[in-house]
Amino acid sequence: MTTYNIGYFVGSLSTRSINRTLSKALIKLAPETLKFTEIPIRDLPLYNYDFDASFPPEGTALKQAIEAADGLLFISPEYNRSIPGALKNAIDWGSRPWGTNSFARKPSAIIGASVGAIGTAVMQSSMRSVLSFLDAPQLNSPEAYIAFNADFYDADGNVSDESTAKFLRHYMSEFAAFVERVLDANAAGHIGDRDPAG
Ligand code: FNR
Repeated sequence: MTTYNIGYFVGSLSTRSINRTLSKALIKLAPETLKFTEIPIRDLPLYNYDFDASFPPEGTALKQAIEAADGLLFISPEYNRSIPGALKNAIDWGSRPWGTNSFARKPSAIIGASVGAIGTAVMQSSMRSVLSFLDAPQLNSPEAYIAFNADFYDADGNVSDESTAKFLRHYMSEFAAFVERVLDANAAGHIGDRDPAG
């Protein structure tokens, strides 16, 4: 059985984060081929390019964690119809110094929970733009906009509502298949790598 290492980001720093609860549920419901490691964002300084000359250990650790992962999962709230600052800051760190973008060709997926009805749809749209610019292939379907119902989850991420559990299980199984497809494609190279005569 081939296993894949998934680095995951939780976009909320709150101790009461519903997105952290969602991350626990997703890990529990994922296929056993996926192994999860959180990529922490809390202690990163605010990025600016003065750091490029000498990256702090937090920035280097973040880039190494992204590069070591086979795939990336972003589980995030929507703040003011966009990406929470802490998560955007982490992405900026991972994208730099120029020429060392750690996200390139990394299979990625975005999911988020909100107390609002549209379930982080606008944040996810912003994230798609950012990750596209960073050349990270993204799971397009299924989309997962979670209007969070606290009654469906316990603190450990057990999901009592069967239709929610089924949807999240399906999402993670599609993500696993997507990671495998992108890694296969990466291993096969891309058009620019091919010998035109071949
Ligand atoms: C929010 N919230 C929110 N919800 C939403 O659906 N769309 C939005 O644009 C916003 N904007 C927003 C801004 C800020 C600064 C805060 C603190 C909150 C509400 C948000 O969905 C709710 O607080 C969630 O509980 C946040 O997720 P975590 O932090 O609990 O994982």
